[in-house]
Amino acid sequence: MPDISKIKFRNFEEKDLNKIIKFKKDSADISFPGLDIDTNIFKKRLLNRVKNDPNSVKVAEIDSEIIGYVFLEIKKASTGPIGYINHVFVSEPYRKSGLGTRFMQIAENYLKSRGIKRVRVTVTKTNKTSLNFCKKMGYVEKRLILEKPLN
Ligand SMILES: CC(C)(COP(=O)(O)OP(=O)(O)OC[C@H]1O[C@@H](n2cnc3c(N)ncnc32)[C@H](O)[C@@H]1OP(=O)(O)O)[C@@H](O)C(=O)NCCC(=O)NCCS
Repeated sequence: MPDISKIKFRNFEEKDLNKIIKFKKDSADISFPGLDIDTNIFKKRLLNRVKNDPNSVKVAEIDSEIIGYVFLEIKKASTGPIGYINHVFVSEPYRKSGLGTRFMQIAENYLKSRGIKRVRVTVTKTNKTSLNFCKKMGYVEKRLILEKPLN
């Protein structure tokens, strides 16, 4: 098991961008198999979020290497503000060591500090690891997103 005691959590910095994009691609391969992601759109969205709120993206670093990240957002809804944990990703060798849990705690604590009372995650149904993980973190199914291809 990797030694996670040396892990440092900090806000995203622009030098992390390429690594985060690689993580996003790896994540998309799991959640959206067969679909390409437009990295420019992701990049713009990420940089825009961080510009508005530097706490939106936290990374975990060990010996100057980025090994995971969490990306959150606060959206205004007619029912009140809601926190969204848009992505959480842990590099494969570091999985199952509690790092994903730490990221969720960091994200949720930050949302709490902003007065947010509800937090959402979206999970692809086939991503059983992620589904188990989110359930373990206390998330329950509230709504379903349905999708169909248009030919
Ligand atoms: C989902 C993910 C973030 C979990 O990170 P992690 O550091 O491995 O998670 P933790 O070690 O904190 O695990 C916490 C709990 O999640 C569940 N879990 C984690 N990995 C699991 C797996 N492979 N199978 C089943 N349950 C799993 C377990 O209940 C675990 O608790 P336990 O260790 O007491 O059994 C990681 O697997 C990942 O990055 N996956 C790829 C990206 C992804 O799918 N992200 C989520 C969608 S945005």
